[in-house]
Amino acid sequence: MSAKSVVVVGATAPDIVKLITAINRAGSDNLALEGFLDDDPSKLGTEFMGYPVLGTTAALRDRFRDFWVANNVARDMPTRQKLVRRLASLHVTRHLTLIHPSIDTSYSKIGEGSMLQEGVVLGPLCEIGDHCVLYARAIIGHECIVEDVVFVGNNAIVGARGRVGTGAFIGLNSVIIPYLTIGARSTVGAGSVVVRNVPPDQTVFGNPARAGVQPAQSVAQMS
Ligand SMILES: CC(C)(COP(=O)(O)OP(=O)(O)OC[C@H]1O[C@@H](n2cnc3c(N)ncnc32)[C@H](O)[C@@H]1OP(=O)(O)O)[C@@H](O)C(=O)NCCC(=O)NCCS
Repeated sequence: MSAKSVVVVGATAPDIVKLITAINRAGSDNLALEGFLDDDPSKLGTEFMGYPVLGTTAALRDRFRDFWVANNVARDMPTRQKLVRRLASLHVTRHLTLIHPSIDTSYSKIGEGSMLQEGVVLGPLCEIGDHCVLYARAIIGHECIVEDVVFVGNNAIVGARGRVGTGAFIGLNSVIIPYLTIGARSTVGAGSVVVRNVPPDQTVFGNPARAGVQPAQSVAQMS
């Protein structure tokens, strides 16, 4: 298998390097990580996880056209959405989909630019959209639809036949009972048990989950 030159956007979360290492070690892909891009000029010339910070995303157009790009702005979905749009405006089309070798992807679909960490469980016939982040041991039930740019935290469970709208954030260790819809750009707080549909642009938390104060950035940055 010939090596893919890879550059990661965002020198922020160390777990992407571990994921790339695990993929290479298992032989499921051959990823040559060249370094990071970051729009923070103070990071230029520094190293992150032993790899160089090569420059800004604007450098992509000239220098990184032949690279596969992994997007590592993981936990802040409005920022991630903005970054995806920015990469599109730079005509970056070779997005890397990173799937930990422990994951059984049979009977499921996973979109481009998504990152699935160790131990994620995908029920049959579920669909994961583009640029999603599923953290370790997240469970997506059978026949679920997870739309684009969705974050699912560690140990969170999306019950069977659920739908999670674009830009939603599912906090760690939360449970969404089957057949529910989490609206676009909504947030489910950590450890919540969601027992009703959640409309778009709403924050819910607790057991049973109820509406709370909405973080201003969700709507302002993603509309
Ligand atoms: C729900 C959430 C978004 C709210 O954030 P926030 O608006 O900054 O809320 P605050 O921290 O100001 O808390 C407001 C109130 O809600 C309560 N609260 C916050 N999050 C809660 C949660 N998950 N479950 C129950 N109560 C919660 C707080 O105790 C506080 O109560 P009080 O007013 O009686 O003191 C946030 O707490 C959360 O759960 N984020 C998810 C984090 C996560 O899973 N990250 C994954 C990273 S891997």
